Amino acid sequence: MEEQFTREDALRREGYRHACHIMLYGDSSAKLFGKIPIKHIVLMQMRFDGLLGFPGGLVNPSKETLEAGLSRELHEEVGVAVPVGVDNHVSSCLSPSCPQLITHFYIKKMTEAELREIERAAVAAATDHGLEVLGMVRVPLYFLKNGGGLPYFLSHSFISNSRAQLLSALQRCRLLSQGELEKAVRQAEQMRR
Ligand code: GTP
Ligand code: MN
Ligand code: MN
Ligand code: MN
Ligand code: MN
Ligand code: MN
Repeated sequence: MEEQFTREDALRREGYRHACHIMLYGDSSAKLFGKIPIKHIVLMQMRFDGLLGFPGGLVNPSKETLEAGLSRELHEEVGVAVPVGVDNHVSSCLSPSCPQLITHFYIKKMTEAELREIERAAVAAATDHGLEVLGMVRVPLYFLKNGGGLPYFLSHSFISNSRAQLLSALQRCRLLSQGELEKAVRQAEQMRR
C-alpha cells in the first residue's frame, strides 16, 4: 500500500504534482440477456495508452482547487463538468508509478439517467474523445462461466494504482461482498498466469 495522506496534508507538501480521478457510479435495474442483474453502473475509461483508468487528470492547486480541476478534466474527458466536492474525496497517496506525483481519488454516486447522459456526452461532446480517451467502459460486476465478467475485467492492464482504487471503491460502496471481491481477484490472478 502506498503512503496515504489526508487531503490537507497532501496539499501542504511542496514540490509535488497532483492528479485527481473519480469513480462515477450508480444503481441500475437493467438485466444482461434479460436475466442477469447488472445491479450497478461503474464508469472507467480506455485511455490513449491502452490502459484502463478513471476519468480525471493533472490538477494545478496553485491555480484551481483539486475539485474544480477534477471537474475541468471531466469536462474535457466525458463532456460534462460534473460538480465534485470535498465530500466526494476518499483518498490521497503517492503515485506508485510517477515520482513526485500525488494522486487523489474521489467517488460520486449519480442516477442511471445522469450516467447515461455522461456516456452519451463522452462521445458527442468531449474534446478528448478519440484522443486522450478512447472510450468510456462500464465495469462488469457479475460472474459468468469461466471467469467471464469481473474476473476477466480485472485481468486487463490498469494505469498506476487504479485497479486497487477500483477494488477498494467497490468494497467501500458495498457494490460487491468481500467474498465476491476475493473470488474475482483470485480468478483474475489465475488468468494472468
Ligand atoms: P494530460 O491532459 O495529457 O496531462 O492528461 P491528464 O491531465 O488527463 O492526466 P492523466 O489522467 O493521464 O493522469 C496523470 C497521471 O495520473 C498519469 O500519468 C498516471 O500516472 C496517473 N493516473 C491516471 N489515471 C489514473 C487513475 O485512474 N488512478 C490513479 N491512481 N492514477 C492515475
Ligand atoms: Mn447480443
Ligand atoms: Mn485529461
Ligand atoms: Mn486523464
Ligand atoms: Mn490534463
Ligand atoms: Mn489533456
